[in-house]
Amino acid sequence: MHYDLIVIGSGPGGYVCAIRAAQLGMKVAVVEKDKTFGGTCLNVGCIPSKALLHASELFEESGHLFDKMGIKLGQPKLDLAAMMKFKDEGVDGNVKGVAFLFKKNKIDTFAGVGRIAGRSKVEVKGADGTSQVIEGKAVVIATGSDVARLRGVEIDEQRIVSSTGALVLDKVPQRLLVVGAGVIGLELGSVWRRLGSEVVVVEFLDRILPGLDSEVCRQFQRLLEKQGITFKLSSKVTGVEISGNKLKATVEPAAGGAAEAIDADVVLVSIGRVPFTEGLGLEEAGVKTDNKGRVTVDARYATNVPGIYAIGDAIAGPMLAHKAQDEGVAVAENLAGRSGHVNYEVIPNVVYTYPEVASVGKSEDELKQGGIAYKVGKFPFTANGRAKVNLQTEGFVKILADAKTDRVLGVHIVGADAGNMIAEAAVAMEFGAASEDIARTCHAHPTLTEAVKEAALAVDNRAIHM
Ligand code: FAD
Ligand code: NAI
Repeated sequence: MHYDLIVIGSGPGGYVCAIRAAQLGMKVAVVEKDKTFGGTCLNVGCIPSKALLHASELFEESGHLFDKMGIKLGQPKLDLAAMMKFKDEGVDGNVKGVAFLFKKNKIDTFAGVGRIAGRSKVEVKGADGTSQVIEGKAVVIATGSDVARLRGVEIDEQRIVSSTGALVLDKVPQRLLVVGAGVIGLELGSVWRRLGSEVVVVEFLDRILPGLDSEVCRQFQRLLEKQGITFKLSSKVTGVEISGNKLKATVEPAAGGAAEAIDADVVLVSIGRVPFTEGLGLEEAGVKTDNKGRVTVDARYATNVPGIYAIGDAIAGPMLAHKAQDEGVAVAENLAGRSGHVNYEVIPNVVYTYPEVASVGKSEDELKQGGIAYKVGKFPFTANGRAKVNLQTEGFVKILADAKTDRVLGVHIVGADAGNMIAEAAVAMEFGAASEDIARTCHAHPTLTEAVKEAALAVDNRAIHM
């Protein structure tokens, strides 16, 4: 029971850290409290939500677009139970993949809640009450995050749901009230709207997707409104009452004022996530956390207690699976005496709706606030040949480049497949590219990626197809 490394949590941060450490020759143990590996991301996050987004997008396309392309199927019919089965099978394949990788890399796994029980020691308490202590030269906390609660609104995961409940509804709600116009609200709101719900989104701020480029979000909101989603911005939900088989939400202006009642069949609370460190024994171990409950770490992911490290949603930074994974690799490499590093300036962010929203680097708002002189190149998908022929002309690419050096500072895309296209921008930025470098790179025709090249040309006012 002596390990070089014990990882607590098997989400994208934890399992990737464990695998990289094993590759580097360490003897590794992973402790996981849930029945399956993969954490939030694989079980109740990225993977199931993307399965439903994919299926519901095809469902909608088959009802609208197919006909235009000469594919006559008649009105599509929804078999929700079969769609949920499709999603569950996708999740199952992914979580089994992690179990396979643990075996392949000779990583020992322990089922139960892990608690730091003194220097180099982790106590694992199984569901049957048994407990055992394992020892490790290093311990990595990768315990992830949990749903943020809305005061006065009790989540029952049946009618008042978090993302977890919204991924398993057994019938399409007639009316879905979404609290919070963040990533979860817009992704899962899109799923249920496509499947037939009337969706109303209540957002505290005066804009959707705070933190993303505001021009992008304004255009994106208009596109979502065209699809039928209703937004109530600068508003807050202060309570939800159950009245018979309906829910009645009280909605007030964010700044205070007269309340109104909105009826709904299901309310989705998606107002953010909070670090999950319950049962870990951080206080007893003396591990410091910040005012938001996140484990405090230095640039090498070390906590204030020697030998204890932390990564992923449990520490500061964007709550994204790929950020957690890269931190997992970095901490494993540091422990093996290498120089692990994550470039926080280049972490792509994708909202998997239709169209998708993808960004990397600085937003225009951030550049303005920072007083950084920049040039803008923009190119709309209406002028891209492939987008036109595919009837996917919504959105645009925007490239922000340093006014003096032309170095790419940020790239923002609203459009079909934006999530895949942003990878090019991330690679370019990682190599310190100028917009001229993207403009001079040959892009295959006909692809949507030509819009990225055209936006780079537009930085210097020389886009060809505009
Ligand atoms: P987690 O994935 O939360 O894993 C933590 C693990 O630790 C869990 O398995 C938990 O059971 C275990 N654990 C906790 N405490 C203990 C303990 N004491 N002992 C033993 N085990 C313990 N991110 C993206 O990048 N792209 C997306 O498309 C995306 N979609 C999402 C959709 C939804 C609906 C949600 C909720 C999140 C989504 N995210 C997405 C965010 C992503 O899931 C998280 O950023 C990511 O899972 C964080 O990884 P992690 O390893 O830090 O923690
Ligand atoms: P979020 O932080 O993205 O959005 C929460 C929204 O709720 C914000 O717009 C906020 O202003 C609003 N809000 C907060 N309190 C409110 C209130 N009382 N009333 C009304 N609005 C309120 O959080 P979300 O959507 O819950 O997602 C959590 C995290 O999960 C995200 O931060 C993201 O990192 C991750 N995630 C990532 C995905 C992706 O990468 N595609 C998909 C889903 C989740």
